This record gives sequence, structure tokens and C-alpha cells, in this order.
Amino acid sequence: MNDSATTKVGVIGAGTISGIYLQNAAWLDDIEIYAIADLRRAAAEAKSAEFNIPHVMSVDELLASDEIDIVLNLTTPDAHAAVGLAIINAGKSLYAEKPLALTLAEGSALVEAARARGVRIGSAPDTFLGAAHQTCRKLIDDGAIGRPIGATAFMMSYGMEMWHPNPAFYFQPGGGPMFDMGPYYLTALINLLGSVSHVSGMVTTGRTQRTITSQPLAGSVIDVAVPTHVAGTLQFASGAIGTLIMSFDVAGSLLPNIEIYGTEGTLAVSDPNRFGDPIALKRPGGDWENVPLTHAYSANSRALGLAEMAHALKNGTPHRANGAVAYHVLELMWAFHESAETNQHIIIQSTCTRPASMPQEAFLGAPNVN
Ligand SMILES: NC(=O)c1ccc[n+]([C@@H]2O[C@H](COP(=O)([O-])OP(=O)(O)OC[C@H]3O[C@@H](n4cnc5c(N)ncnc54)[C@H](O)[C@@H]3O)[C@@H](O)[C@H]2O)c1
Repeated sequence: MNDSATTKVGVIGAGTISGIYLQNAAWLDDIEIYAIADLRRAAAEAKSAEFNIPHVMSVDELLASDEIDIVLNLTTPDAHAAVGLAIINAGKSLYAEKPLALTLAEGSALVEAARARGVRIGSAPDTFLGAAHQTCRKLIDDGAIGRPIGATAFMMSYGMEMWHPNPAFYFQPGGGPMFDMGPYYLTALINLLGSVSHVSGMVTTGRTQRTITSQPLAGSVIDVAVPTHVAGTLQFASGAIGTLIMSFDVAGSLLPNIEIYGTEGTLAVSDPNRFGDPIALKRPGGDWENVPLTHAYSANSRALGLAEMAHALKNGTPHRANGAVAYHVLELMWAFHESAETNQHIIIQSTCTRPASMPQEAFLGAPNVN
């Protein structure tokens, strides 16, 4: 490992999501973006110029660099496992965009390879480390809603083909509403309620083809290869029960993002794809109360999980957005689909502990706007 105060990070994947990571890396104290690589070298060069990244490399050059301790994998889901394994096999810690991998076999190969090499594995999402979800976590842990007995989680959208510049991957394995957005909702629920012991699910597909309306591919047709409307139930190990819908088929809905129901109240949890949206609490017989956020990182702080992993690596402590959580989430996502196929409840084999709650004050750097 290099000895400087910051950990040097190499980035593979210079597409749509890379911008916010590269922007936030500037204020996150523990990390420094050292190099960027992409199959499309011009894309890497453009990000290097925009965000003052010192080196543009090929993937092989980046993996061979002794300067780099962590590699951030921002490739499309189909490449997550192969690129992730190459990163680990190069002796570097991996922080991956979600989903961890396409299949359980690939996901467990990544976790096992990281264990064998003695490197870290971390994964998006990191929104659960933000102000809103950490405030909710503290409220639950402090007993504000009594004993949690249930949860609902709804991601109701009409799809991605109207905004993403190259949206085909959202309708291929690794995409679909569950594999694309499920990680936010399931990770949020694990942060609040802990691991899941079994699930049941049903799936359907609204449209077998999608016409892209975003630029530059407007008019192109995508064949849909995955279910686009998934409904399910989850039994948490704690005894609480969750109800969930993840959809790319809903033109509009008034359902909330996430609610947690306890013996002494309901917690309205904000969008798990965001860091600091408002939250509210209702006790039996009372009115809804808006609850001020008590924790740091309410602005878009994507890359917080990467920085927290670098911080933990330096200090020899466990990191929060970790491989065990990401693998548990991957198993849950598959289980909804497997349950639908087999008409059975699926017993979940993996488990994970709730990541430690975050300190209330900012300890990874201060964003310009918070
Ligand atoms: N776009 C978003 O808003 C968003 C939000 C959160 C998470 N994500 C996740 O981030 C990841 C990337 O999404 P995106 O929207 O940036 O995709 P994108 O298609 O815009 O960019 C992906 C980039 O990865 C490169 N790439 C693919 N395979 C590669 C390989 N083997 N080696 C090197 N480079 C390779 C591509 O050339 C491309 O530039 C996905 O896992 C997605 O789920 C995206």
C-alpha cells in the first residue's frame, strides 16, 4: 500500500455515473483519483480532462500500477464480475457499482477471491450511509417506533429508456427493476432491519420491447430479456415482514418509497437512491411529524462508501458498504425471481450483519453543500 494520507484509486468505467464519483472524490479526504480507464479511451480522456485525473491508462496498465490500492469498478453490470476478479487478482481492493455480479456463482467467486487475497470488497449503494437513512437508523435503534414488525418498499417507475444515453443494459440480465434498483431498497432495509431469512416473489413483463426516446439512440428498439415488474415478500431474521414492488412498468404511483412499521409508530423513510430527503414519524393517534436529520451527508455524496472503505482500510476497521451485504442483496434479488419460477418460498443461505451506524458528524470530508 502507498504511504500517503490518501489512498490512490483507479477507476474503470468512464460512463454516465462516473461524473458524480469524480466530482465528490475532490472533497472526500481519504481518496485521490489517480487514474482512469475505459474500453472507450476517448471517454476516459474526457473525464480525465474534466476532473483533472492525472493518468489515463488501459485497464491492464491500471491494474499493474503499484500506486493504486483500490479500484472503483463503474462498468456495466455484465462486466462487473470479470473486471472485479481481475482487480482482486491484481492484489487491489475492489469497490464495485451495483449489482455486485450477475449470478450468485460470480458474486461468491468475488467474495471468496477477496478473502483469499486479503483485499477489501465494497459495493454500491452507499446512500444508506447518508443523513436521511442514518437518522432513520438511529430512530429505530433508539426505539422511536417500538419493535419493527413490518416494512414496505416501492420503486415504481416506467423505465430508463427515456433518459439514459445507452439504456439497453437495463433490460438485459443484471438489469430490470430488481437488479438495477433493488440494491438501494434492499440495502436500506438491511441497514434498518437486518438480514433476511426467506422471500417469496412473483414477476411479470409489461412490454417485450422498448423504444429509446433519449438521445443519441432515440428510435432504436430494445428487446426486453428480464422481468420488468417484480412483487415480493421478505421475512427478516428479526421477525419483521417486508412487502416490496420494483417496477419499470408503472406510469405513475402515489405509493411511498419505504415505510417501517413498529409497535409504537410508523417511520416514513426517504428515497434510498438519495442521501438527504425528508423523513417523518407518526405515533399511534398522533399527527405526522417531520423529523430533522441528525446526521451528516445530506447532499449527493455518492462515493461516500468508497471513501469509507479507504478510511477503514487505513484504520484496520470493518467497512460498511461491504461485500457481505452486497452478496446478501444479490441472493435476495435472485430469490424473488427463483420463487416466481418455482412457486416456493426461498430460504436465503447467506446472512450479513447490519453495518455499524455512522457517527453523526462528518468524518470523511465535508461537501461544499450539505
Ligand atoms: N447511470 C446511473 O444513473 C447509475 C446510477 C447508479 C449506479 N449505476 C451503475 O453504474 C454502472 C455503470 O452505469 P453507467 O450508467 O455509468 O453505464 P454507462 O454505459 O454510461 O458506462 C459504462 C462504461 O463502462 C465501460 N466499460 C464496460 N465494460 C468495460 C470493461 N470490460 N472494461 C473497461 N470499461 C468498460 C463502457 O465503455 C462505458 O464507458 C452500472 O452498474 C449501473 O447500474 C448507474
